Amino acid sequence: MKPAAGKRIFIQEVVLRDGFQMEPIFIPTDVKVELIDRLSRSGVAKIEATSFTSPRAIPALADAEAVMHRITRVPGVVYAALVPNARGCERALECGTDEVNVVMSASQTHNQANLRMSCEDSLRQFTAIAQMAREAGTAVNASLATAFGCPFEGTISASRVMELLDRIADAGIGNVALCDTTGMANPAQVAELCSQVRQRYSQLGLTAHFHNTRGMGLANVLGALEAGIERFDASLGGLGGCPYAPGASGNICTEDLVHMLQAMGYHTGVDLDALLALARWLPEIVGHEVPGQVLAAGPSSRRYAPPAACSV
Ligand code: COA
Ligand code: ZN
Repeated sequence: MKPAAGKRIFIQEVVLRDGFQMEPIFIPTDVKVELIDRLSRSGVAKIEATSFTSPRAIPALADAEAVMHRITRVPGVVYAALVPNARGCERALECGTDEVNVVMSASQTHNQANLRMSCEDSLRQFTAIAQMAREAGTAVNASLATAFGCPFEGTISASRVMELLDRIADAGIGNVALCDTTGMANPAQVAELCSQVRQRYSQLGLTAHFHNTRGMGLANVLGALEAGIERFDASLGGLGGCPYAPGASGNICTEDLVHMLQAMGYHTGVDLDALLALARWLPEIVGHEVPGQVLAAGPSSRRYAPPAACSV
């Protein structure tokens, strides 16, 4: 693998949605707004700010409207929100959300557990949502959860993913995130599936969304880079997970991802020090330590004074 010579990679921050949906406490709206406003100035390309889900399903994000209304939007940053159904899309559009992120699972069982509907019903919602968003001039991304494996059904075949991508394209949606919801993907599988998808859908705006549940998160990023993926979801501090997927845990950590990509010569446009400052604030926000590793060790540029025995 050669150094990347400045190739642009887009960092899409999901801590406010994937991260906070998993936290047992309700994080005050003021704190969410301040975190989004500071992330907006860190150079990330997109911020998934919240989700317009049922407040009973995801109580941590019951303040979605207030969050979207109170943030200060920075030109060039895309403010996205997850929506599970047409009702969620209506709410998101009323708040002027830049991009609605519709979600469904490649596996029937996880779709039922998470969204309480069949995959067919989700696809019908996608068609309605794409129509509403088109009329409002709003972008749509579809997140395909459990695309690399499901905690209930096990392996998800590439042909199942292709079948759903065909249906998502039929619904009029041109951007998709392939999501490894519970960290079951491995780098070889990621490289293979992402290459197949890129070959078959050359116009599709493709994002990779990995969780580090089994320590393969950044290795999977390498698999995706090899296949030409340029957009990655990641979560500050490595928080995250789906409350309706057993064993789910944190996303790949944004500051660890940016640190790795910069060391390899990629251009992310992100200020790593700004991210680290925000990651340092997270334990106070959520009330526990966060799994990010660069925060603990410092960037690889960090230097220590030599031990006394070595000085002359
Ligand atoms: N926003 C707010 N409220 C919503 C809503 C939305 N997008 N969709 C449904 N509701 C409300 C309904 O109005 C109804 O309220 P009521 O009981 O006061 O009348 C209630 O939720 C139940 O509606 P129903 O259509 O029967 O939904 P459900 O109980 O079958 O739940 C979802 C379906 C999709 C709304 C719910 O499972 C959900 O929000 N899931 C999101 C899961 C998630 O975000 N997971 C992590 C991300 S992958
Ligand atoms: Zn996720």
